[in-house]
Amino acid sequence: MSILDAYDSIPYDRLSLAETHPDQLAVLATLYGINCHDPQHARVLELGCASGGNLIPMAWFMPGARFVGIDLSQVQVTAGQALIDELGLANIVIQRADLADCDLGDEGFDYIIAHGLYSWVPADVRSALLALLRRQLRPGGVAYVSFNALPGWHMRGMLRQMLLFQLRDVAAPAQRVQVAREFLGFLAGGLHDLHALSAQYLRTELAELGRAPDSYLYHEYLASVNEPVLFTDFVAQVSRAGLSYLCNTDLHLQFPATLGESVESALATIDDALLRQQYLDFLANRNFHQALLVRDDERPLADPDYERFTGFALFSDLMPPHKPDLRRTKPQPFSDNRGNAHPVTHPLTKATLAHLYAVYPHAVAFAELQEIACAQVAAHGDARVAGQTDHLFGELFQLFAHRALSASLHSGGTPPGPVDRPSATALARAEARSGRLVDTRHASLVLDSATCAVIAALDGTLDHATIAQILRLAGARQRQPEPALLLRKLARYGALR
Ligand SMILES: C[S@@+](CC[C@H](N)C(=O)[O-])C[C@H]1O[C@@H](n2cnc3c(N)ncnc32)[C@H](O)[C@@H]1O
Repeated sequence: MSILDAYDSIPYDRLSLAETHPDQLAVLATLYGINCHDPQHARVLELGCASGGNLIPMAWFMPGARFVGIDLSQVQVTAGQALIDELGLANIVIQRADLADCDLGDEGFDYIIAHGLYSWVPADVRSALLALLRRQLRPGGVAYVSFNALPGWHMRGMLRQMLLFQLRDVAAPAQRVQVAREFLGFLAGGLHDLHALSAQYLRTELAELGRAPDSYLYHEYLASVNEPVLFTDFVAQVSRAGLSYLCNTDLHLQFPATLGESVESALATIDDALLRQQYLDFLANRNFHQALLVRDDERPLADPDYERFTGFALFSDLMPPHKPDLRRTKPQPFSDNRGNAHPVTHPLTKATLAHLYAVYPHAVAFAELQEIACAQVAAHGDARVAGQTDHLFGELFQLFAHRALSASLHSGGTPPGPVDRPSATALARAEARSGRLVDTRHASLVLDSATCAVIAALDGTLDHATIAQILRLAGARQRQPEPALLLRKLARYGALR
């Protein structure tokens, strides 16, 4: 089946990825010395944008920027354009086009996103993709390209090979998904009592796939093209196309020390940064990359300029523990919106994150944050700890490198909307139809059905008692739903106007 038919038959699930947001691309590129265009007034292109799940929320929250999306699949493009019309957005278009043969004009773009494309298209389209990036990237422009990586993907490839064997005589897309699901069940049953390493690994994969949507199973494991590449081969192809590899979005995976002392000492003598990254891939068994590229006439720094981090504004949605300990240097868990805990050690960092959580989605300038944190820690009685700003810098950078904390070129942010008799924004209503919310900072939140029902009903006339009733009727988990809490949360995520 052709790629076009595949995506027309089973459209890709709407997806928004914070790491592809122009703000995030600008911050990383700035750390590497690139003079980026202001994201708020940039021209942004997404190749293979599906139905605009990533691009449309960006266009909504960044009215001063201009967005173009292209995709091969008419079904997805029509759905995306219909949503753009519903939202009345004038700063975005989504067109049906083949990236290998399309006319995007000669104005160029400051940010270009290609997620889930490079290793999922044939070799000639891969070359066309890189040539297009080189043609369309303006000076100072940044491109994001993700790809499945070898040799790590070989492990997933095992399951792909089994599935393709099982589906050798099944052509219809919906039937392929159904037979694939049955086969995964068959494998899980058969592996149940086996203790071999391969069985343990497959069990983990099967559990993950069990939670994944059909569109992921179909387009990742059953795709007609899925050709993972070695990191160094990717870099070589990129450079033949007149582009340079800058870094990847998971900055911590570039530093051997992050993986522990043995990795650090094994790689200590390798000076070539690209070769070091390749060996890191081997040791970490990495199967996926999210690479940032620039034109080869840029002169990026070889390593990030850490000083520049202090010139950024920071924002974070990490929830502090009930009582952050601002006296002692001891780890306490701060949790992200998926429930993952991030240990935070220094009192200055705890004070910083507690402040950022209170003002989210605002981004606060590093110097201002440091002042706030020092004052709070000093007020808890220890002036010596309050002066340890090197520790603050170190721990904040670590959290940033792990993407638990984010940075922006500018301070500020959209203030939360009213929570008295609120209306849901048109974007929040539309996204809630797919059971999710994309916030001002491009974070994606999965919603329960009760929250979706409230968002659909919020039209500016409802009081809290009516909202509580809607929550109960829609099967909210709590016996006494608290509308005020829910509304504060929706306001925080930019879903109210
Ligand atoms: C795996 S999906 C990724 C969608 C989206 N970027 C995301 O992450 O949610 C790949 C998309 O690329 C599109 N595509 C594949 N080949 C293409 C081509 N030659 N030109 C334009 N789009 C293409 C497909 O139709 C599909 O929507």
